Amino acid sequence: MRMILVGPPGAGKGTQAARLVDTFRIPHISSGDMFRAEVKSGSDLGKQLDSLMKTGGLVPDDMTIAMVLKRLTAPDTAQGFMLDGFPRTRPQAEALDVALTNAGVKLDAVVLIKVPDALLEERAVHRRSDPETGKIYHLKYNPPPPDVAGRLVHRPDDTKEAVDKRVTKYHSETAPIIPFYTQKGILKEVDGVGDPDAITERIKAVLKS
Ligand code: AP5
Ligand code: MG
Repeated sequence: MRMILVGPPGAGKGTQAARLVDTFRIPHISSGDMFRAEVKSGSDLGKQLDSLMKTGGLVPDDMTIAMVLKRLTAPDTAQGFMLDGFPRTRPQAEALDVALTNAGVKLDAVVLIKVPDALLEERAVHRRSDPETGKIYHLKYNPPPPDVAGRLVHRPDDTKEAVDKRVTKYHSETAPIIPFYTQKGILKEVDGVGDPDAITERIKAVLKS
């Protein structure tokens, strides 16, 4: 299975990817997680990325494309992969298309997780992540167990201001890639509102159809 999860910030891409990769036994490739690892490393590049990401800006296409396409040459992607957060601009979608064509492989599906803008801010602002397990929690909808509470991380781009900017960027830069995949006949839309288990089932159902 070679697939992409698309959706606005807070749509549940990371939450759903974590569940689906167990089923499909493919690597979860999140461009946001890769950039956050670079920030955590404290490198000069990480410092530049930190100031850009904190305010809700996008990382330049050339750097993002090079990083993800390199990741897609790793042996663990031979049987498939789940991209989360990439592509998110038209040039990224086109570069991925060229790379996959050159490699002689095709995408099976692009799943768009649809969540109204009005719900996104609350989802992001109350998100907490566990740096040890990578698990994603929500203080209200998916509260963390007390024993991990002390080590949870609040993402610096999960402020109201940064989320507003990320949502605006989603509509101006990312939503325009959707017709690209509709034309290829591989776009699958899923309602991302409701219980996360129900959403996982919706995704599995559209992937079978
Ligand atoms: P990235 O990490 O990709 O962030 P994003 O796209 O903004 O998405 P999020 O991770 O915020 O949300 P999600 O959809 O994964 O939701 P989650 O499952 O966590 O990118 C971050 C930054 O990196 C970008 O802003 C940019 O700077 C840079 N970047 C990354 N990729 C790039 C690219 N390709 N090009 C350029 N720059 C790039 O869920 C959110 C919350 O909601 C959680 O608390 C969760 O518990 C809760 N939740 C999940 N599902 C439900 C549900 N069904 N009901 C209620 N709550 C729910
Ligand atoms: Mg995510």
